[in-house]
Amino acid sequence: MYPLNRGENKVVRIYMDHGATTRPDPEVVNAMLPFYDELFGNASSLHTFGQEAARALASSRKTVADFLRAEPEEIIFTSGGTESDNLALKGIAYLKKNKGKHIITSVIEHPAILNTCKYLGDMGYRITYVPVNNQGLIDPADVEDAITDDTILISIIHANNEIGTIQPIKEISAIAHMHGVLVHTDAVQSVGKMPVNVDDLGVDMLSISAHKIYGPKGVGALYLRKGTRLQGLSQGGSHEMGKRAGTENIPGIVGLSKAVELAKQRVEGDTKYLVNLRDTMIRKILDSIPESYLNGHPTKRLCNNVHVRFSYVEGESLLMMLNMKGVAVSTGSACSSKSLEPSHVLAALGIIPEKIHGNLRITLGHENTIDEVDYVVENLVDIVKKLRAMSPIAPKD
Ligand SMILES: Cc1ncc(COP(=O)(O)O)c(C=O)c1O
Repeated sequence: MYPLNRGENKVVRIYMDHGATTRPDPEVVNAMLPFYDELFGNASSLHTFGQEAARALASSRKTVADFLRAEPEEIIFTSGGTESDNLALKGIAYLKKNKGKHIITSVIEHPAILNTCKYLGDMGYRITYVPVNNQGLIDPADVEDAITDDTILISIIHANNEIGTIQPIKEISAIAHMHGVLVHTDAVQSVGKMPVNVDDLGVDMLSISAHKIYGPKGVGALYLRKGTRLQGLSQGGSHEMGKRAGTENIPGIVGLSKAVELAKQRVEGDTKYLVNLRDTMIRKILDSIPESYLNGHPTKRLCNNVHVRFSYVEGESLLMMLNMKGVAVSTGSACSSKSLEPSHVLAALGIIPEKIHGNLRITLGHENTIDEVDYVVENLVDIVKKLRAMSPIAPKD
């Protein structure tokens, strides 16, 4: 738990945007510090300094592998979720271009997948985007229907970063493998918020990122199942089993490893705690604000995700007014929150354009408390009332 900044002058600072990023845990920071100082060696060097770094790299790789129930040689460290996603998609696409050029993904992927698919589409690959239902769920039968003789890869997000809906990846993997197709999942949002391992999910590749699990920014990993070949994207030294050239970010990797170790210890307790906070918050919002609606699936959703829609108000106004009350939330995903484009995820749920702008994504973390939930809901009720009073389209009571 972190003390929130409510010191002498009672400044309220409530952070409820954990889907965007998380505050690095003090244990993570402490684990990293020596690697910015006396343990600064290059893991490829043969002397003692290098060997200290190489030992940290090897033990971090084992920790991340154990966490995902993988083998150490199946873990490729990267600069984060975006790079892991790019490596998975392009790495397979380039290697298998003579076997097939068809990739299946979904309409509600993170831009790290969607824009990589768009890029591959421009390069002559064929991309199929499977739809979702109005709760954001993919039907595995739609994935199966999309498979053709030249399908080389299926990439489906594990838990959506905006609405938190959790996809049936295990079923999708089973279908893909029946047809001899590889499966990748972007598990950047699900790791740490539910048990995630490659045995259960049955995937061939899986992306993770440290900064969503109380670790540092700019570091992540791609799990690549043993025997699965992939073309590296950068040319250089033989780091990361030849799949990702460049001197390893040892402090970041040690931070990722510590974050994963803490996530493993905490996931069960955190999940229970967060489900209670989440459901209390959803209930209080829906009960106290007329014409408010929950987006996404009521139960197949991330334990920390509250995504709500309000008629007659703009999400940006809600966000700014909550910010003035010391509360940090989001209107969509971190990557699109500066854009006024309607969210592709909400559009995919079938929400009509007039109703697509009044949304808030509140993503809780284990340092949030029930008192904070009450504070946020009380302020939200007040803010929605004020905004509706000013709105020419809101019915007046
Ligand atoms: C589902 C998902 N995938 C990928 C990413 C990108 O990860 P990173 O910020 O580590 O590049 C994010 C970050 O928002 C995400 O939520």
